[in-house]
Amino acid sequence: MAETVLITGASGLLGRALVREFAGRGLMVLAQYHRHRGEECGNVRWLAADFSSAAGTKAFLGRHAKALAGCGCVVHNYGPIAEKATAEVTGADLLAACQAQLQPALDITRHLLARATLRSALFIAFEDTGRVRAFRKVLAFAVAKNALPLLSRSLADAHPGVRFNVFSPPTLAGAAIRHPRVKPVAPEKVAARACRIVLGRGSGRHYRWPSHGGRSTRRKTHGSR
Ligand SMILES: NC(=O)c1ccc[n+]([C@@H]2O[C@H](COP(=O)([O-])OP(=O)(O)OC[C@H]3O[C@@H](n4cnc5c(N)ncnc54)[C@H](OP(=O)(O)O)[C@@H]3O)[C@@H](O)[C@H]2O)c1
Repeated sequence: MAETVLITGASGLLGRALVREFAGRGLMVLAQYHRHRGEECGNVRWLAADFSSAAGTKAFLGRHAKALAGCGCVVHNYGPIAEKATAEVTGADLLAACQAQLQPALDITRHLLARATLRSALFIAFEDTGRVRAFRKVLAFAVAKNALPLLSRSLADAHPGVRFNVFSPPTLAGAAIRHPRVKPVAPEKVAARACRIVLGRGSGRHYRWPSHGGRSTRRKTHGSR
C-alpha cells in the first residue's frame, strides 16, 4: 500500500509544490488547507484546519482521526511570517509566533506518534535557522523557527524508530517577503529536496539549501548537551 503523507500549509506557495511532488511519486497525500482548498485528484485529499489556536489543532486532529491513522510521514510546512520592527516586538508577539511555528507541529506529531505509525517527520524552518544574527523585521518569526532544530533533535532522541529532520529552504520565488541576501529558488526545486529528505534515511539532521551553507548539519553538531 502507498505511504501516506500529511502536508500542513498545503495550499500555500511551497505547500502546493510539495503536494505535486509527493503525489507525483505515488504517495497518498493528506493536504491541509485553511481558506483555499486545492484541486482534488486521485491520491490527494484536502483537510480543512485552523491552527490559530491549540483548540483549532485539536479539532483538526479529532475531525480527521480516521484519515490520519494511516499517516506514516508528515511535513510541518505551516509557518506564517509577519513583519514588525524589532523595537516594537512584544512578549505577546513571541507567544503568537511560537503558537504558529511550534504548537500545531508538536501536537500533530504527538498525535501521529500515539495513533498512527509515524516513520518520518520534517519541520520546515527558514534560511537563517541556526544562525545568530540581528533581525530588523522578523524577530518573533526567527525566534520560533530557531526552536525547530532543538525540537526535532530532541524528538529524534526520544523516538529512535522515527526520523525527525529540519529543512531550512531559501527564499522561494514568488514569496511576498524576501531574504535580503538570498537568491529566490523555485518552490518545485525546494519541494523535490524536501521529499527526498522525508523519504531518505537521515534523522536528527538540519538540512540546508546547498548554496546557503552546505548540505546538512549532523546530529552531533546541533544540540550537544
Ligand atoms: N516563502 C518563502 O520564501 C520561505 C522561505 C523560507 C522558509 N519558508 C517556510 O516555508 C513554509 C511555507 O511557506 P510559504 O511561503 O509557502 O507559505 P504561504 O504561501 O504563506 O502559505 C500559508 C499556508 O498556511 C495556511 N494557513 C494560513 N492561516 C492558517 C491557519 N490559521 N490555520 C491553518 N492553516 C493556515 C494557508 O492556507 P490557506 O491558503 O488555505 O488559507 C497556506 O496553506 C513556511 O514554514 C515558511 O516559514 C518560506
